[in-house]
Amino acid sequence: MRKERSRMLAGLEQDCVWLEEARQKLIEKMEWVSRASAGKIPYTTVNGRHDDRSDNSADWDMGNGINWWTNGFWGGIQWLMVQATGDERYVTIARETEVKLDRCFELYEGLHHDTGFMWLPTAVADYRLTGDPLSRRRGLHAANLLAGRVNINGGYIRAWNESFFGGNAAGLAIIDCMMNIPLLYWASEELNDPRYRSVAMFHADTVLRTFFRPDGSCSHIVEFDPVTGQKVRVHGGQGLREDSSWTRGQGWAIYGFAVSARHTGEARYLQAARKTADYFISRIPESGLIPADFEQPEVPAWEDCAAAAIAASGLIELAEQLDEKEGKPYLRQALRLLKTLYVYRCNWSREEDCILENCTAAYHGKEHHIHMIYGDYFFMEAVFRLCQPMVSMW
Ligand code: GLY
Repeated sequence: MRKERSRMLAGLEQDCVWLEEARQKLIEKMEWVSRASAGKIPYTTVNGRHDDRSDNSADWDMGNGINWWTNGFWGGIQWLMVQATGDERYVTIARETEVKLDRCFELYEGLHHDTGFMWLPTAVADYRLTGDPLSRRRGLHAANLLAGRVNINGGYIRAWNESFFGGNAAGLAIIDCMMNIPLLYWASEELNDPRYRSVAMFHADTVLRTFFRPDGSCSHIVEFDPVTGQKVRVHGGQGLREDSSWTRGQGWAIYGFAVSARHTGEARYLQAARKTADYFISRIPESGLIPADFEQPEVPAWEDCAAAAIAASGLIELAEQLDEKEGKPYLRQALRLLKTLYVYRCNWSREEDCILENCTAAYHGKEHHIHMIYGDYFFMEAVFRLCQPMVSMW
């Protein structure tokens, strides 16, 4: 364990003897992977090697190619490595991604609400860590694009543009956006201008009212009438059904509400994070491995290790905002999820560029048990932050 072991871990020493070993292995793997994949913006792997989503010509109007929503996580991994190792080499790789993303500002039709996922771990991380004024400008540009997606009739941030959802996307909001709105909190804090924060809270309050079920689980997609603002229906999205509980969505909700609570100090957001965390914890199977949907049948047994990593990161964030007694049970569950991933689902081989196995983008999707770059990102973020002080990207 590094010198500055998180204060929160006091009393949990038995639960985290594996942590420093995991941290070392992550650093060792990312050291060669970052060199091998420098110049790419990976999402997944093909025959073990990272793919590249930095292509300007690939379906950018559908949010693919350079506008693909996960394109911030490769840069984010590099900034995690900068913090973990102090090695400037990772700054160079991170900045390559950051500059490539400038093209997205010109490709408006391909942009969506995922500006937070794209620019918080890249330009905003750069600004937070180095103070670079150009990175700050990029982050503020992205925040304005996100704020501009607010529908004031319904109080939600619109998820996608016309080319999505058969051209009928004006009324759609999704739970994932809870992790995009931290970009708005950052912009308000940076500019000392409450507008962005107000938009973020407008959205968060709508999500509280319309996405949550009494048991603490939440929907993936809610459709509103974009003119009257009335809730029209729920869509199952990447989960099993509209009334089921897509595990990654539960993870976005835990982390997103906990981050909203940190930026605003609002007890209702902390309460929401706790309630959805309690629900998630109550559904963790004995194996500690997280299914793609908590309501899915036993067969096929699709897992989503990215959901596990995101939920673990969210539980750590939540624990940090509670007092020691209340926070410790959440931390213990985060450690359990992360250790399970470390023992059973990490690939340390040189034949494979990604780390976390068995990630599932969508329950009904064509591909299951693939690698996804943000699974690696959130696993690394969680392990590193338990080992040393880290600047939050969110
Ligand atoms: N934000 C999209 C997803 O979690 O797949």
